[in-house]
Amino acid sequence: MVPNLNNIQGDIWPRLAKKYETFLFFEILDMARFKKELGSFSKYITTAKAACETRGRLYSRKENGENNIVETISTNISLSAAGLARLGKTDLGDFIFKGGMYADMVTVGLDRDEEWHGEFKGSRGQIDGVFILAGSSEDTVNNWIIDVIKPKFADPTINGEPAASKFLFTQSGAVLNEYDVEHFGWKDGASQPLLKGLDDETTNTKGPGLIKPGYIILGEEGDTEPSPDWAKDGSFMVFRRLRQLVPEFTQWVVKQIGDQAKDGDKMKLGVISTLSSRLVGRWPDGAPLDLMPGPPEGQEDTYKGLPEDAPGQGEEHMALTNSNDFDFRDTQWQDRCPFASHIRKVRPRADRTNMDGTFDDTHAMIRRGISFGPLTTNQEKSVGVTTHDRGLLFVSYQANLHNGFRQVQNEWANKISFPPGKARHYDNKQPGLDPIIGQWAKDDDHSNYITMPRYDNPKKVEQWKLERSVIAEGGEYFFSPSISGIREICGVCA
Ligand code: HEM
Repeated sequence: MVPNLNNIQGDIWPRLAKKYETFLFFEILDMARFKKELGSFSKYITTAKAACETRGRLYSRKENGENNIVETISTNISLSAAGLARLGKTDLGDFIFKGGMYADMVTVGLDRDEEWHGEFKGSRGQIDGVFILAGSSEDTVNNWIIDVIKPKFADPTINGEPAASKFLFTQSGAVLNEYDVEHFGWKDGASQPLLKGLDDETTNTKGPGLIKPGYIILGEEGDTEPSPDWAKDGSFMVFRRLRQLVPEFTQWVVKQIGDQAKDGDKMKLGVISTLSSRLVGRWPDGAPLDLMPGPPEGQEDTYKGLPEDAPGQGEEHMALTNSNDFDFRDTQWQDRCPFASHIRKVRPRADRTNMDGTFDDTHAMIRRGISFGPLTTNQEKSVGVTTHDRGLLFVSYQANLHNGFRQVQNEWANKISFPPGKARHYDNKQPGLDPIIGQWAKDDDHSNYITMPRYDNPKKVEQWKLERSVIAEGGEYFFSPSISGIREICGVCA
Protein backbone atom coordinates (compact mmCIF):
# COMPACT_ATOMS: atom_id res chain seq x y z
CA MET A 1 0.00 0.00 0.00
CA VAL A 2 1.29 3.47 -0.91
CA PRO A 3 1.08 5.97 1.99
CA ASN A 4 -1.88 8.33 1.64
CA LEU A 5 -0.57 11.78 0.63
CA ASN A 6 -3.80 13.45 1.72
CA ASN A 7 -3.36 12.14 5.24
CA ILE A 8 0.35 12.71 6.05
CA GLN A 9 1.59 16.12 7.25
CA GLY A 10 3.83 17.68 4.61
CA ASP A 11 6.85 18.43 6.79
CA ILE A 12 7.34 14.68 7.26
CA TRP A 13 7.30 14.15 3.52
CA PRO A 14 8.16 15.70 1.05
CA ARG A 15 9.05 18.73 3.30
CA LEU A 16 7.53 22.19 3.50
CA ALA A 17 8.71 24.90 1.12
CA LYS A 18 10.54 27.46 3.26
CA LYS A 19 12.88 30.39 3.43
CA TYR A 20 11.80 31.22 6.97
CA GLU A 21 10.28 29.03 9.68
CA THR A 22 8.79 29.59 13.12
CA PHE A 23 8.17 26.92 15.74
CA LEU A 24 5.37 28.27 17.94
CA PHE A 25 5.18 26.35 21.22
CA PHE A 26 1.87 26.35 23.09
CA GLU A 27 0.09 25.12 26.19
CA ILE A 28 -3.52 23.97 25.95
CA LEU A 29 -5.78 25.98 28.29
CA ASP A 30 -9.26 24.87 27.37
CA MET A 31 -9.44 21.32 26.12
CA ALA A 32 -12.95 21.54 24.63
CA ARG A 33 -12.28 24.72 22.69
CA PHE A 34 -8.88 23.50 21.55
CA LYS A 35 -10.46 20.34 20.13
CA LYS A 36 -13.16 22.37 18.42
CA GLU A 37 -10.66 24.80 16.84
CA LEU A 38 -8.14 22.14 15.83
CA GLY A 39 -10.90 19.96 14.36
CA SER A 40 -12.04 22.76 12.06
CA PHE A 41 -8.45 23.88 11.44
CA SER A 42 -7.34 20.58 9.94
CA LYS A 43 -8.23 21.92 6.48
CA TYR A 44 -5.42 24.48 6.85
CA ILE A 45 -2.80 21.85 7.63
CA THR A 46 -0.39 21.38 4.77
CA THR A 47 -0.59 17.76 3.71
CA ALA A 48 2.05 15.83 1.79
CA LYS A 49 -0.06 16.30 -1.34
CA ALA A 50 -0.34 20.08 -0.88
CA ALA A 51 3.40 20.34 -0.11
CA CYS A 52 4.20 18.38 -3.29
CA GLU A 53 2.05 20.73 -5.35
CA THR A 54 3.67 23.85 -3.89
CA ARG A 55 7.16 22.47 -4.36
CA GLY A 56 6.29 21.41 -7.93
CA ARG A 57 5.05 24.94 -8.72
CA LEU A 58 8.21 26.50 -7.28
CA TYR A 59 10.50 24.12 -9.22
CA SER A 60 8.78 24.74 -12.54
CA ARG A 61 8.95 28.53 -11.98
CA LYS A 62 12.66 28.20 -11.30
CA GLU A 63 13.16 26.11 -14.43
CA ASN A 64 11.33 28.76 -16.45
CA GLY A 65 13.66 31.41 -15.08
CA GLU A 66 10.94 33.14 -13.05
CA ASN A 67 12.99 34.30 -10.09
CA ASN A 68 10.63 36.69 -8.32
CA ILE A 69 9.60 35.49 -4.87
CA VAL A 70 6.23 33.78 -4.65
CA GLU A 71 4.50 34.02 -1.31
CA THR A 72 3.97 30.62 0.29
CA ILE A 73 2.86 29.61 3.77
CA SER A 74 2.53 26.10 5.20
CA THR A 75 1.27 24.92 8.56
CA ASN A 76 1.89 21.67 10.45
CA ILE A 77 1.21 20.77 14.06
CA SER A 78 2.80 18.32 16.49
CA LEU A 79 1.81 17.39 20.04
CA SER A 80 3.92 16.39 23.01
CA ALA A 81 3.00 13.43 25.21
CA ALA A 82 1.63 15.92 27.77
CA GLY A 83 -0.47 17.62 25.10
CA LEU A 84 -1.86 14.33 23.80
CA ALA A 85 -2.69 13.29 27.35
CA ARG A 86 -4.62 16.55 27.84
CA LEU A 87 -6.56 15.69 24.71
CA GLY A 88 -7.33 12.22 26.03
CA LYS A 89 -4.76 10.15 24.14
CA THR A 90 -2.42 8.21 26.39
CA ASP A 91 -2.15 5.02 24.35
CA LEU A 92 0.88 5.89 22.24
CA GLY A 93 3.21 3.26 23.64
CA ASP A 94 6.69 4.78 23.26
CA PHE A 95 8.08 5.20 26.80
CA ILE A 96 10.80 7.67 25.70
CA PHE A 97 8.14 9.89 24.18
CA LYS A 98 6.02 9.69 27.30
CA GLY A 99 8.91 10.73 29.56
CA GLY A 100 9.80 13.75 27.38
CA MET A 101 13.17 15.00 26.17
CA TYR A 102 14.38 16.55 29.43
CA ALA A 103 14.08 13.23 31.27
CA ASP A 104 15.72 11.39 28.41
CA MET A 105 18.51 13.72 27.35
CA VAL A 106 19.32 15.57 30.61
CA THR A 107 18.30 13.32 33.51
CA VAL A 108 19.73 10.16 32.01
CA GLY A 109 21.52 11.62 28.97
CA LEU A 110 24.50 13.89 28.42
CA ASP A 111 22.78 17.26 27.87
CA ARG A 112 23.60 19.67 30.70
CA ASP A 113 20.77 21.14 32.73
CA GLU A 114 22.52 24.52 33.08
CA GLU A 115 22.77 24.80 29.29
CA TRP A 116 19.08 24.10 28.65
CA HIS A 117 16.95 27.22 28.19
CA GLY A 118 14.29 27.64 30.87
CA GLU A 119 11.35 27.58 28.48
CA PHE A 120 12.18 24.00 27.48
CA LYS A 121 12.17 23.15 31.19
CA GLY A 122 8.68 24.59 31.61
CA SER A 123 9.52 28.07 32.95
CA ARG A 124 6.85 29.58 30.67
CA GLY A 125 4.34 26.74 30.95
CA GLN A 126 3.91 23.17 29.85
CA ILE A 127 4.78 22.52 26.21
CA ASP A 128 1.72 20.70 24.88
CA GLY A 129 2.48 21.18 21.24
CA VAL A 130 4.09 23.20 18.49
CA PHE A 131 2.86 24.84 15.31
CA ILE A 132 5.38 24.55 12.49
CA LEU A 133 4.95 27.57 10.24
CA ALA A 134 7.08 27.65 7.13
CA GLY A 135 6.94 30.40 4.56
CA SER A 136 8.60 32.46 1.91
CA SER A 137 9.55 35.29 4.31
CA GLU A 138 9.50 36.36 7.94
CA ASP A 139 6.59 38.74 7.24
CA THR A 140 4.50 36.02 5.61
CA VAL A 141 4.96 33.75 8.61
CA ASN A 142 4.34 36.51 11.17
CA ASN A 143 1.21 37.72 9.38
CA TRP A 144 -0.15 34.18 9.24
CA ILE A 145 0.35 33.83 12.98
CA ILE A 146 -1.37 37.16 13.70
CA ASP A 147 -4.22 36.80 11.19
CA VAL A 148 -5.03 33.08 11.42
CA ILE A 149 -3.33 31.12 14.20
CA LYS A 150 -3.69 33.55 17.09
CA PRO A 151 -7.43 34.38 16.68
CA LYS A 152 -8.29 30.69 16.60
CA PHE A 153 -5.94 29.34 19.21
CA ALA A 154 -4.86 32.10 21.60
CA ASP A 155 -7.69 34.68 21.74
CA PRO A 156 -10.98 34.40 23.64
CA THR A 157 -14.00 34.44 21.30
CA ILE A 158 -16.25 37.50 21.05
CA ASN A 159 -19.01 35.59 22.77
CA GLY A 160 -16.81 34.93 25.78
CA GLU A 161 -15.38 31.47 25.17
CA PRO A 162 -11.94 31.20 26.83
CA ALA A 163 -8.75 31.03 24.78
CA ALA A 164 -8.00 27.51 23.57
CA SER A 165 -4.31 27.79 24.34
CA LYS A 166 -1.51 30.07 25.48
CA PHE A 167 1.44 30.77 23.18
CA LEU A 168 4.56 30.13 25.27
CA PHE A 169 7.51 31.10 23.07
CA THR A 170 8.82 30.81 19.55
CA GLN A 171 12.01 29.65 17.87
CA SER A 172 12.63 30.92 14.35
CA GLY A 173 15.17 30.17 11.68
CA ALA A 174 15.94 31.07 8.09
CA VAL A 175 17.70 29.54 5.12
CA LEU A 176 21.16 31.12 5.32
CA ASN A 177 21.95 31.57 1.63
CA GLU A 178 21.22 30.23 -1.84
CA TYR A 179 23.41 27.16 -1.17
CA ASP A 180 21.44 26.24 1.95
CA VAL A 181 24.55 25.92 4.11
CA GLU A 182 24.48 25.39 7.87
CA HIS A 183 26.56 27.73 10.06
CA PHE A 184 29.85 25.79 9.91
CA GLY A 185 29.64 26.35 6.15
CA TRP A 186 28.63 22.94 4.78
CA LYS A 187 25.77 22.53 2.34
CA ASP A 188 22.92 20.99 4.29
CA GLY A 189 20.40 18.42 3.11
CA ALA A 190 22.58 16.54 0.61
CA SER A 191 21.25 13.22 1.89
CA GLN A 192 17.78 12.18 3.00
CA PRO A 193 16.38 8.65 3.07
CA LEU A 194 14.13 7.95 0.09
CA LEU A 195 10.80 6.38 0.98
CA LYS A 196 9.53 3.40 -0.98
CA GLY A 197 6.18 4.23 -2.60
CA LEU A 198 6.76 7.97 -2.27
CA ASP A 199 10.16 8.90 -3.71
CA ASP A 200 11.27 8.16 -7.23
CA GLU A 201 14.72 6.60 -6.96
CA THR A 202 15.49 7.20 -10.61
CA THR A 203 15.08 10.96 -10.51
CA ASN A 204 16.27 11.67 -7.00
CA THR A 205 19.89 11.47 -5.90
CA LYS A 206 19.18 12.40 -2.30
CA GLY A 207 19.56 9.08 -0.58
CA PRO A 208 21.43 5.81 -0.67
CA GLY A 209 18.41 3.80 -1.86
CA LEU A 210 14.79 3.32 -0.95
CA ILE A 211 13.85 2.49 2.62
CA LYS A 212 10.60 1.11 3.91
CA PRO A 213 8.23 4.02 4.64
CA GLY A 214 7.35 2.46 7.99
CA TYR A 215 10.80 3.41 9.35
CA ILE A 216 9.54 7.00 9.25
CA ILE A 217 5.72 6.80 9.15
CA LEU A 218 3.66 4.78 11.61
CA GLY A 219 1.53 1.93 10.34
CA GLU A 220 3.28 1.76 6.96
CA GLU A 221 5.35 -1.13 5.58
CA GLY A 222 8.36 -1.71 7.86
CA ASP A 223 6.81 -0.34 11.08
CA THR A 224 6.91 -3.30 13.45
CA GLU A 225 5.76 -1.61 16.68
CA PRO A 226 2.10 -1.87 17.64
CA SER A 227 0.33 1.50 17.83
CA PRO A 228 -3.29 2.67 18.06
CA ASP A 229 -5.28 3.12 14.82
CA TRP A 230 -5.49 6.90 15.20
CA ALA A 231 -1.65 7.12 15.10
CA LYS A 232 -1.35 5.58 11.60
CA ASP A 233 0.38 7.89 9.10
CA GLY A 234 1.84 9.99 11.93
CA SER A 235 5.51 10.27 12.89
CA PHE A 236 7.53 11.09 16.00
CA MET A 237 9.24 14.47 15.71
CA VAL A 238 12.40 15.48 17.54
CA PHE A 239 13.02 19.20 18.08
CA ARG A 240 16.39 20.31 19.42
CA ARG A 241 17.98 23.74 19.76
CA LEU A 242 21.66 23.23 18.97
CA ARG A 243 23.91 26.26 19.45
CA GLN A 244 26.95 26.36 17.16
CA LEU A 245 30.17 28.05 18.21
CA VAL A 246 31.51 28.74 14.73
CA PRO A 247 34.69 30.81 15.22
CA GLU A 248 35.77 28.52 18.07
CA PHE A 249 35.17 25.46 15.85
CA THR A 250 37.26 27.00 13.04
CA GLN A 251 40.08 27.84 15.46
CA TRP A 252 40.05 24.32 16.87
CA VAL A 253 40.22 22.81 13.37
CA VAL A 254 43.15 25.03 12.37
CA LYS A 255 44.95 24.22 15.64
CA GLN A 256 44.64 20.47 14.97
CA ILE A 257 45.59 20.68 11.32
CA GLY A 258 48.25 23.38 11.56
CA ASP A 259 51.44 21.34 11.35
CA GLN A 260 50.15 19.15 8.52
CA ALA A 261 49.08 22.14 6.44
CA LYS A 262 52.18 24.29 6.98
CA ASP A 263 54.43 24.88 4.01
CA GLY A 264 57.15 27.18 5.31
CA ASP A 265 55.35 30.38 6.24
CA LYS A 266 52.31 29.49 4.15
CA MET A 267 49.34 27.25 4.89
CA LYS A 268 48.22 24.78 2.19
CA LEU A 269 44.52 25.47 1.66
CA GLY A 270 43.88 22.08 0.04
CA VAL A 271 45.20 20.30 3.14
CA ILE A 272 43.13 22.44 5.50
CA SER A 273 39.97 21.91 3.49
CA THR A 274 40.55 18.17 3.08
CA LEU A 275 41.16 17.57 6.76
CA SER A 276 38.28 19.77 7.91
CA SER A 277 35.95 18.13 5.35
CA ARG A 278 36.90 14.76 6.83
CA LEU A 279 35.13 15.84 10.03
CA VAL A 280 31.84 15.96 8.15
CA GLY A 281 32.55 13.34 5.47
CA ARG A 282 31.62 15.77 2.70
CA TRP A 283 33.28 18.85 1.27
CA PRO A 284 31.46 22.10 2.08
CA ASP A 285 29.91 21.98 -1.41
CA GLY A 286 28.42 18.54 -0.61
CA ALA A 287 30.82 16.27 -2.56
CA PRO A 288 31.35 13.08 -0.48
CA LEU A 289 34.91 12.30 0.69
CA ASP A 290 34.23 8.65 -0.12
CA LEU A 291 34.08 9.64 -3.81
CA MET A 292 36.52 12.55 -3.72
CA PRO A 293 39.05 11.99 -0.93
CA GLY A 294 41.35 14.90 -1.82
CA PRO A 295 41.57 18.13 -3.82
CA PRO A 296 41.58 17.87 -7.64
CA GLU A 297 45.03 17.35 -9.12
CA GLY A 298 47.07 20.52 -9.28
CA GLN A 299 44.82 22.37 -6.79
CA GLU A 300 46.41 21.07 -3.58
CA ASP A 301 47.50 24.56 -2.53
CA THR A 302 44.32 26.39 -3.39
CA TYR A 303 41.26 24.11 -3.23
CA LYS A 304 38.54 25.10 -0.76
CA GLY A 305 35.60 22.97 -1.93
CA LEU A 306 33.11 25.79 -1.32
CA PRO A 307 29.55 25.69 -2.77
CA GLU A 308 30.08 28.96 -4.64
CA ASP A 309 33.17 27.55 -6.40
CA ALA A 310 31.55 24.24 -7.39
CA PRO A 311 30.17 25.32 -10.83
CA GLY A 312 33.72 26.33 -11.84
CA GLN A 313 34.84 22.72 -11.29
CA GLY A 314 32.69 21.45 -14.15
CA GLU A 315 29.55 19.38 -14.61
CA GLU A 316 30.97 16.13 -13.34
CA HIS A 317 31.90 17.81 -10.09
CA MET A 318 28.46 19.46 -9.81
CA ALA A 319 26.89 15.98 -9.97
CA LEU A 320 29.11 14.96 -7.06
CA THR A 321 27.82 17.75 -4.82
CA ASN A 322 24.48 15.99 -4.36
CA SER A 323 25.74 12.46 -4.75
CA ASN A 324 24.78 9.57 -2.54
CA ASP A 325 26.33 7.02 -4.82
CA PHE A 326 28.81 5.80 -2.21
CA ASP A 327 28.72 3.30 0.61
CA PHE A 328 31.99 3.26 2.68
CA ARG A 329 32.48 -0.19 1.14
CA ASP A 330 36.16 0.00 2.13
CA THR A 331 34.97 -0.97 5.59
CA GLN A 332 38.33 -1.79 7.21
CA TRP A 333 40.12 1.39 6.11
CA GLN A 334 39.53 5.10 6.37
CA ASP A 335 41.83 6.45 3.65
CA ARG A 336 38.88 8.14 1.97
CA CYS A 337 36.45 8.99 4.76
CA PRO A 338 37.27 8.68 8.48
CA PHE A 339 35.21 6.20 10.49
CA ALA A 340 34.25 9.03 12.85
CA SER A 341 33.20 11.60 10.26
CA HIS A 342 29.72 12.93 11.00
CA ILE A 343 27.98 11.30 8.04
CA ARG A 344 29.68 7.92 8.56
CA LYS A 345 28.70 7.93 12.23
CA VAL A 346 25.07 8.86 11.65
CA ARG A 347 24.43 6.83 8.45
CA PRO A 348 27.03 4.05 8.40
CA ARG A 349 25.89 2.44 5.12
CA ALA A 350 28.14 -0.63 4.45
CA ASP A 351 29.56 -0.38 8.00
CA ARG A 352 26.22 -1.76 9.16
CA THR A 353 24.59 -4.32 6.93
CA ASN A 354 22.00 -7.08 7.18
CA MET A 355 22.87 -10.74 6.62
CA ASP A 356 22.14 -10.36 2.88
CA GLY A 357 24.55 -7.42 2.52
CA THR A 358 21.86 -4.71 2.24
CA PHE A 359 22.23 -1.67 4.52
CA ASP A 360 20.50 -1.83 7.87
CA ASP A 361 18.27 1.21 7.48
CA THR A 362 16.04 0.62 10.47
CA HIS A 363 17.68 3.64 12.18
CA ALA A 364 17.03 6.08 9.35
CA MET A 365 15.52 9.46 10.10
CA ILE A 366 14.29 12.30 7.93
CA ARG A 367 15.82 15.67 8.88
CA ARG A 368 13.94 18.94 8.51
CA GLY A 369 15.98 21.44 10.52
CA ILE A 370 16.73 25.08 9.80
CA SER A 371 19.52 27.41 10.94
CA PHE A 372 18.91 30.25 13.37
CA GLY A 373 20.92 33.42 13.99
CA PRO A 374 23.09 35.52 11.68
CA LEU A 375 26.06 34.35 9.62
CA THR A 376 29.39 34.63 11.47
CA THR A 377 30.71 38.19 11.28
CA ASN A 378 34.26 39.17 10.31
CA GLN A 379 34.71 40.55 13.82
CA GLU A 380 33.86 37.16 15.34
CA LYS A 381 36.14 35.41 12.85
CA SER A 382 39.05 37.72 13.65
CA VAL A 383 38.86 37.28 17.43
CA GLY A 384 37.74 33.66 17.32
CA VAL A 385 34.92 34.19 19.78
CA THR A 386 31.15 33.85 19.26
CA THR A 387 29.21 36.99 20.15
CA HIS A 388 25.94 36.25 18.31
CA ASP A 389 23.50 33.50 19.10
CA ARG A 390 23.37 31.01 16.20
CA GLY A 391 22.92 27.34 15.47
CA LEU A 392 20.57 24.72 14.16
CA LEU A 393 16.94 24.10 15.04
CA PHE A 394 17.32 20.36 14.50
CA VAL A 395 14.16 18.49 13.51
CA SER A 396 13.90 14.83 12.65
CA TYR A 397 11.02 12.48 11.96
CA GLN A 398 11.05 8.74 12.64
CA ALA A 399 8.48 6.05 13.42
CA ASN A 400 10.32 5.08 16.57
CA LEU A 401 12.37 7.43 18.78
CA HIS A 402 14.41 4.61 20.21
CA ASN A 403 15.48 3.36 16.75
CA GLY A 404 15.83 6.76 15.14
CA PHE A 405 17.21 9.87 16.85
CA ARG A 406 18.17 8.20 20.12
CA GLN A 407 20.09 5.34 18.57
CA VAL A 408 21.98 7.71 16.29
CA GLN A 409 22.81 10.31 18.96
CA ASN A 410 23.43 8.10 22.00
CA GLU A 411 24.66 4.81 20.59
CA TRP A 412 26.52 5.92 17.48
CA ALA A 413 27.61 9.60 17.70
CA ASN A 414 28.40 9.35 21.42
CA LYS A 415 30.21 6.00 21.37
CA ILE A 416 33.96 6.05 20.65
CA SER A 417 33.86 2.44 19.41
CA PHE A 418 31.22 3.06 16.73
CA PRO A 419 31.40 1.95 13.93
CA PRO A 420 32.57 -1.25 15.65
CA GLY A 421 35.51 -3.45 14.74
CA LYS A 422 37.60 -0.70 13.18
CA ALA A 423 40.59 -0.40 15.50
CA ARG A 424 42.67 -3.41 14.45
CA HIS A 425 44.61 -1.70 11.65
CA TYR A 426 45.15 1.43 13.73
CA ASP A 427 47.08 0.42 16.88
CA ASN A 428 43.78 -0.41 18.54
CA LYS A 429 42.70 3.21 18.38
CA GLN A 430 38.91 3.47 18.29
CA PRO A 431 37.21 5.88 15.82
CA GLY A 432 36.22 8.29 18.61
CA LEU A 433 33.16 10.54 18.98
CA ASP A 434 31.24 12.27 16.22
CA PRO A 435 33.23 15.54 15.96
CA ILE A 436 30.08 17.58 15.21
CA ILE A 437 27.46 16.21 17.59
CA GLY A 438 29.30 13.76 19.89
CA GLN A 439 28.71 14.44 23.58
CA TRP A 440 30.79 13.37 26.54
CA ALA A 441 30.08 13.33 30.24
CA LYS A 442 31.47 16.22 32.30
CA ASP A 443 35.08 15.62 33.41
CA ASP A 444 35.41 12.58 31.15
CA ASP A 445 38.59 13.24 29.23
CA HIS A 446 38.94 9.67 28.02
CA SER A 447 36.17 9.80 25.45
CA ASN A 448 36.42 13.30 23.99
CA TYR A 449 38.59 12.59 20.98
CA ILE A 450 38.36 11.74 17.32
CA THR A 451 40.81 9.52 15.46
CA MET A 452 41.86 11.13 12.18
CA PRO A 453 44.01 9.74 9.36
CA ARG A 454 47.03 11.91 8.49
CA TYR A 455 47.01 13.81 5.21
CA ASP A 456 50.45 12.55 4.11
CA ASN A 457 49.73 8.93 5.06
CA PRO A 458 46.12 7.98 5.81
CA LYS A 459 47.19 4.62 7.22
CA LYS A 460 48.66 6.54 10.16
CA VAL A 461 46.26 8.20 12.55
CA GLU A 462 46.30 11.01 15.11
CA GLN A 463 43.94 11.52 17.99
CA TRP A 464 42.52 15.01 18.30
CA LYS A 465 41.02 16.18 21.55
CA LEU A 466 37.57 17.59 20.82
CA GLU A 467 36.13 20.87 22.00
CA ARG A 468 32.42 21.41 22.46
CA SER A 469 31.25 23.49 19.53
CA VAL A 470 27.64 22.26 19.36
CA ILE A 471 25.73 22.81 22.58
CA ALA A 472 22.27 21.30 23.16
CA GLU A 473 20.10 24.02 24.68
CA GLY A 474 16.75 22.27 24.93
CA GLY A 475 14.03 20.59 22.95
CA GLU A 476 11.13 18.20 23.15
CA TYR A 477 9.76 15.01 21.64
CA PHE A 478 6.51 15.40 19.71
CA PHE A 479 4.12 13.33 17.67
CA SER A 480 2.89 14.65 14.30
CA PRO A 481 -0.49 12.99 13.75
CA SER A 482 -2.07 12.39 10.37
CA ILE A 483 -5.06 14.48 9.29
CA SER A 484 -7.42 11.60 10.17
CA GLY A 485 -5.54 11.25 13.48
CA ILE A 486 -6.15 14.94 14.26
CA ARG A 487 -9.85 14.54 13.47
CA GLU A 488 -10.05 11.50 15.73
CA ILE A 489 -8.24 13.33 18.57
CA CYS A 490 -10.67 16.23 18.20
CA GLY A 491 -13.76 14.03 17.95
CA VAL A 492 -14.59 15.32 14.45
CA CYS A 493 -16.33 12.93 12.06
CA ALA A 494 -14.26 12.15 8.96
C1 HEM B 1 24.60 21.62 14.70
C2 HEM B 1 24.48 20.32 14.53
C3 HEM B 1 24.64 19.63 13.20
C4 HEM B 1 25.33 20.01 12.09
C5 HEM B 1 26.16 21.26 11.88
C6 HEM B 1 25.14 18.96 11.09
C7 HEM B 1 25.68 19.00 9.82
C8 HEM B 1 25.46 18.03 8.86
C9 HEM B 1 25.96 18.08 7.51
C10 HEM B 1 26.82 19.20 6.94
C11 HEM B 1 25.56 16.96 6.87
C12 HEM B 1 25.88 16.54 5.42
C13 HEM B 1 24.93 17.08 4.44
C14 HEM B 1 23.59 16.43 4.45
O1 HEM B 1 23.42 15.29 4.03
O2 HEM B 1 22.65 17.08 4.95
C15 HEM B 1 24.78 16.19 7.81
C16 HEM B 1 24.15 14.99 7.54
C17 HEM B 1 23.45 14.27 8.47
N1 HEM B 1 23.26 14.56 9.80
FE1 HEM B 1 23.90 16.22 10.74
N2 HEM B 1 24.36 17.99 11.63
C18 HEM B 1 24.03 18.36 12.92
C19 HEM B 1 23.26 17.65 13.81
C20 HEM B 1 22.79 16.38 13.61
C21 HEM B 1 22.11 15.57 14.59
C22 HEM B 1 21.78 16.01 16.02
C23 HEM B 1 21.83 14.38 14.00
C24 HEM B 1 21.15 13.17 14.58
C25 HEM B 1 21.22 12.82 15.84
C26 HEM B 1 22.30 14.45 12.63
C27 HEM B 1 22.13 13.47 11.69
C28 HEM B 1 22.51 13.57 10.37
C29 HEM B 1 22.18 12.58 9.35
C30 HEM B 1 21.36 11.31 9.56
C31 HEM B 1 22.77 13.01 8.17
C32 HEM B 1 22.71 12.33 6.80
C33 HEM B 1 23.82 11.34 6.66
C34 HEM B 1 23.77 10.65 5.32
O3 HEM B 1 22.73 10.07 4.99
O4 HEM B 1 24.77 10.70 4.62
N3 HEM B 1 22.89 15.66 12.43
N4 HEM B 1 24.73 16.86 9.03
